[in-house]
Amino acid sequence: MILPAVPSGAYCYEHRNESRQSRTISSTTSSGASRATAEVQIVALSNHKGGSGKTTTTVNLAAAFAETGLRVLVVDLDPQGSATEWLGGRESAIGLVEFSEGGVGVSKLVVPTTASGVHLVPTSPSLIPRGDASRNATGLGIVRGLARLPDYWDLILIDTAPTLDYLSLAPLVASNHVIIPVEGHALALPGVTSVIASIKRARRHINPHLELLGIVACRVNKTGHSREVVTQLRSQFGAVVLEHSVRDAIRIAEAPALQLPITAYAPTSPVAADYRSVATELLVRLGDLSS
Ligand SMILES: Nc1ncnc2c1ncn2[C@@H]1O[C@H](COP(=O)(O)OP(=O)(O)OP(=O)(O)O)[C@@H](O)[C@H]1O
Ligand SMILES: [Mg+2]
Repeated sequence: MILPAVPSGAYCYEHRNESRQSRTISSTTSSGASRATAEVQIVALSNHKGGSGKTTTTVNLAAAFAETGLRVLVVDLDPQGSATEWLGGRESAIGLVEFSEGGVGVSKLVVPTTASGVHLVPTSPSLIPRGDASRNATGLGIVRGLARLPDYWDLILIDTAPTLDYLSLAPLVASNHVIIPVEGHALALPGVTSVIASIKRARRHINPHLELLGIVACRVNKTGHSREVVTQLRSQFGAVVLEHSVRDAIRIAEAPALQLPITAYAPTSPVAADYRSVATELLVRLGDLSS
């Protein structure tokens, strides 16, 4: 079976074994300039608040990163499976938990998607423990499964569940970075504080290298309220809030039904440009983090 999104052939990711630490990401920005970041990056998109734009940002950022030539893997760690559906996948019996136990090849775990250059680990029923399995064991399986992924991809983006349990903790244990998508609404601000507290706890107890890569304001509209929220985000959290934000746009709400990222569904739309700008800004930050 050929993976159409990857030019170099079928399941070539099975054969790559370079060390994550030694790989270099290079990509081309919209201006054509070449840019390098340090190493393969695992990035969790986290916000315990439901409906904050995690899935939308994961899918569309993945596509925007892939447009620059990066190899991107989306991992759907939400049992709701919204990222899986959006990218044209289906819930799979083989998930990270099964993969972590060995004996299952990565070709059974990873599928191609409708987004060029983007692969997917679909959501799986085993993300929710059944029978004797405990939540801790499932969380550990997720972490081990992520660690077993081959070093084929440049960026691994994890779409997380809106919970405060093993499903939101495991990605913080396994990632290098966190992006917090936040809706441009005042009610969204406490959610950011909660994720930052979780990041600090994860850093203190288990993953000292975890970094907050950026806070991305999503669904920002022209109302004074929305702009005031962005101002408040900047005054409360400072420069970690990205310069670029994502506008509220009906095209985004339409795209999942067509199972296409916004960069393919409405490639010349202003909101597609927003996601490209956010991707470019994040790549600069990844480069800065490497220096
Ligand atoms: N820029 C945008 N413009 C318009 N609608 C948007 C935008 N971003 C997100 N939405 C809409 O907001 C809703 C929530 O977005 P999304 O599903 O990405 O949030 P989420 O954080 O993943 O939610 P959950 O916590 O349930 O997983 C969706 O209906 C989505 O279509
Ligand atoms: Mg979601």
